[in-house]
Amino acid sequence: MLDNLSSSAVPNLKEHLEKGVIEFLRGDIRDFEIVNRSMRDADIVFHEAAQVSAPLSIEDPAHTDDVNVKGTLRRRVSLTNLTRVTTN
Ligand SMILES: NC(=O)c1ccc[n+]([C@@H]2O[C@H](COP(=O)([O-])OP(=O)(O)OC[C@H]3O[C@@H](n4cnc5c(N)ncnc54)[C@H](O)[C@@H]3O)[C@@H](O)[C@H]2O)c1
Repeated sequence: MLDNLSSSAVPNLKEHLEKGVIEFLRGDIRDFEIVNRSMRDADIVFHEAAQVSAPLSIEDPAHTDDVNVKGTLRRRVSLTNLTRVTTN
């Protein structure tokens, strides 16, 4: 799981971390390197990272666009690169 904890917290993950059902990486969806690292051994990717606050999107639309649009695009590019690696 990759999350920058901008609107969440590690204690919410405690139970899953203790059971060893997730690995947690703190990082930003806009950071290619950590996105690549988080997806390296994944068979399936659920992309849920988002800036979901409507008031924040009005206050700072550029940030919301950067996370929700460009962040999604960067993750897709990383996935495409990984898929190319595995199919060659
Ligand atoms: N909650 C719902 O009912 C629902 C329904 C339909 C679709 N969705 C969609 O699912 C997605 C997630 O929604 P949610 O309700 O789980 O929101 P949420 O705020 O609970 O979760 C979003 C997570 O993304 C993280 N995040 C924010 N910016 C980040 C960044 N730059 N890099 C890494 N992590 C970042 C936050 O810390 C948070 O943990 C959104 O795209 C939302 O539109 C949610």
